[in-house]
Amino acid sequence: MNIHTYEKTWLAVSMVLIVGFIATVTYGAVGPGIAMIDDDGGSIDPDTINDDERFNDPGVTHVGENEYEAAVVAQAWTYTPSEITVPANSTVTFYVTSRDVTHSFTVAGTNVNTMVVPGQISEMTVEFDEPGEYGILCNEYCGAYHHTMEGKLNVVPQDEFDLTELSTDASDEAQLGNQTTINTTVSNDMNYDLETTATLEIGDQQSLEQDVTVPAHGSETVEFAVDTTDLGTGDHDWTVTVDGHEESDTLTVTNATEGGDGDA
Ligand code: CUA
Repeated sequence: MNIHTYEKTWLAVSMVLIVGFIATVTYGAVGPGIAMIDDDGGSIDPDTINDDERFNDPGVTHVGENEYEAAVVAQAWTYTPSEITVPANSTVTFYVTSRDVTHSFTVAGTNVNTMVVPGQISEMTVEFDEPGEYGILCNEYCGAYHHTMEGKLNVVPQDEFDLTELSTDASDEAQLGNQTTINTTVSNDMNYDLETTATLEIGDQQSLEQDVTVPAHGSETVEFAVDTTDLGTGDHDWTVTVDGHEESDTLTVTNATEGGDGDA
């Protein structure tokens, strides 16, 4: 059979193109380490997200030496937490789910991009080598304020990173002569115990210190008893410092007679 030279050329070109297309698709699927989101993450009932151990207090948790987990809940039109901080040179596994409709969790400038479907948990593991700041945004149209749905991912140097958080519970006001307490709860999301010292500075005279050990993935409350007689009446600014973190407020000590019982 005699095949015309032009036809031979076109046949050869088509073959090259077909092989080329197949190679491109194969490379795209397995080459640069891009994986499709599958059902590895498991499923979850969107109505019981608050009861789920991972999602009831979403955020970053330390799970191994340089390994972290970040749980994120998407809902119209926010991510919780809206700001995620992880250390550089770490491996982070994101678990993202939706409370309402389909969203996406896209970290701009990286290949982190997944749909977030209610009922499903999207799981992605990413390595962050360098410190940097990335925007998180939603790529799936999810309603009127879809375009405002955004978050932030901070990759910070390792020595600037910890997972300690403070919250305080204290009265704004106390009567002169009464004792009042300033309670500070220290939470620790690292997978080792935090041994540290809590310091309370109040007014000009009082500085109190307490050693505290916060268990891994736990919290501990430090109670400072404040003597209002020492402070005297008036406004007294105070600061609790734990492991480089601070909480401040003001305590107002009032004269006992202002309470209306008895004479001073
Ligand atoms: Cu959420 Cu668009």
